[in-house]
Amino acid sequence: MLIAQISDLHVTPKGRLAYERVDTPGMLKTAVAQLNRIVPRPDLVLITGDLAAHGEVDAYANLREILADLEIRYLVIGGNHDDARNLRAAFSDHGYLSAEGDYIQYAIDDYPLRIVAVDTVVPGQVLGSLCDGRLAWLDRTLTEKPSTPTLLMMHHAPFLTGLAHSDLLCMERVDELEQVVLRHPQIERILCGHVHRAVQVRFGGTFASACPSTAHQSSVDLREHGEDMFTLEPPGFQLHRWHNQRLFSYTLNVGDFEGPFPFH
Ligand SMILES: [Fe+2]
Ligand SMILES: [Fe+2]
Repeated sequence: MLIAQISDLHVTPKGRLAYERVDTPGMLKTAVAQLNRIVPRPDLVLITGDLAAHGEVDAYANLREILADLEIRYLVIGGNHDDARNLRAAFSDHGYLSAEGDYIQYAIDDYPLRIVAVDTVVPGQVLGSLCDGRLAWLDRTLTEKPSTPTLLMMHHAPFLTGLAHSDLLCMERVDELEQVVLRHPQIERILCGHVHRAVQVRFGGTFASACPSTAHQSSVDLREHGEDMFTLEPPGFQLHRWHNQRLFSYTLNVGDFEGPFPFH
């Protein structure tokens, strides 16, 4: 099974730039065209939150228009830039998204890898968290299929990245999450967004991994009080291949590059 992950699309309403500089819709279009060209074609695309720049109805309309060109099934979750109500309305045809309830979270059992998505968003707050209810839901949901290899999908990364800006905006209650994850060794990987850069770290007996953004990346400033900046280096996405009972993850850049050339 081959899964593509894209993240942090931050799509604006038509005619607007994010941060007065970033053409997030145009960049997503380029990423979608590239996903459509991958051979063999991924079975599924996971979109790990921050779909819209500011949760606007018009941004979701623009997003749906762009994603209409994606020729692969995709699943969405929200991020801190999303508005749960507007997101649900825009994706009302996505049956796995409950029409109501406080959180956007679900389990998908259609593939050799089980997908479990948990909602880390606290409305009105940049920082992620999990409440008692969501932690209990996650524990219960993971208990249902203890021997099915599982990808846990969430917007906020449950670890400090060393990037000062990211770490100010990370996630609360990660120790409790880690205890839940430790109880479920079938979790192959925790796939996150929010960081706007590829970062991996051990967490709860598995790997937690953040995906690049299809738009702007957070700059790598590893000083203790690093500055809050982004770059327009080539955007990225990831491919996760389930093969011989192991998950292989590849980080690729979006864009047209020279090659491939023969080695010999
Ligand atoms: Fe983001
Ligand atoms: Fe985010």
